[in-house]
Amino acid sequence: MISVRDLSKVYKVKKKGEVVALQGVSFECRPGEVFGLLGPNGAGKTTCLRIISTALKPTNGSGEVMGHDILTDPAGVRTSIGFLAANSGLYARLTPKEVLRYFGTLFGMEKAKLNARIDELAETFEMTEFLNRPCDKLSTGMKQKVNIARTVLHSPPVIIFDEPTSGLDVLTSRTIIQFVKKCREEQKTVILSTHIMAEVEKLCDRVAIIHKGQLFFNGTVPEIREKHGDDLEEAFIQMVKEVA
Ligand SMILES: Nc1ncnc2c1ncn2[C@@H]1O[C@H](COP(=O)(O)OP(=O)(O)OP(=O)(O)O)[C@@H](O)[C@H]1O
Ligand SMILES: [Mg+2]
Repeated sequence: MISVRDLSKVYKVKKKGEVVALQGVSFECRPGEVFGLLGPNGAGKTTCLRIISTALKPTNGSGEVMGHDILTDPAGVRTSIGFLAANSGLYARLTPKEVLRYFGTLFGMEKAKLNARIDELAETFEMTEFLNRPCDKLSTGMKQKVNIARTVLHSPPVIIFDEPTSGLDVLTSRTIIQFVKKCREEQKTVILSTHIMAEVEKLCDRVAIIHKGQLFFNGTVPEIREKHGDDLEEAFIQMVKEVA
């Protein structure tokens, strides 16, 4: 499970002073729950996810992932999570199979287990056909599938996805949505950021909305509908306007 308390982040920008990216953000997500992080561009979602995954230190505040403190036990956090960054790259000259073998070895996975897991993920994400093609020869969607497979290779109990379906076609998006649903069934804790309301509707048990670094809503999709009407996109726009 994930809990963060009073997270703040101020980026220091040379000559331009400071950017306040997060201010006093607190929330919890539990096992078996898909938690959606929503907010306009620049709201602070990626900053928040990077802090939880220990890629970035907060200016203030604290947090825990599966009982590991993000400040004092970042190594413990990292073994518990799979973090898909919004712009993760792949080694151009390696094939997906080589990338997955490389990361599996880094995770300390035993060879037979690793090979079986690669086969399983190749089937889940329909990657078999391009498993031995160099990564720089793959399409955007193919690369994203490899990135997601890499993220979940070691079967972490916590999954952190920053815009997992951005730029993907509906078929590929559906594969990823189904994978997230399976993770929920397996009682994993999933936190994801997205701009796609249809995805929120299909996936998220709980939603937090951030604007200008501040969390101003934490609740369920039915709760949003009750207050702001059935059209989620419209509701989101209204809610952001109200706090702006
Ligand atoms: N490394 C950085 N240095 C300085 N400012 C940064 C840095 N990273 C992000 N910011 C700023 O912090 C704010 C929040 O950015 P962040 O990337 O967290 O937003 P986001 O909600 O993920 O947006 P998007 O939906 O566009 O991905 C923005 O004003 C951004 O310009
Ligand atoms: Mg972002």
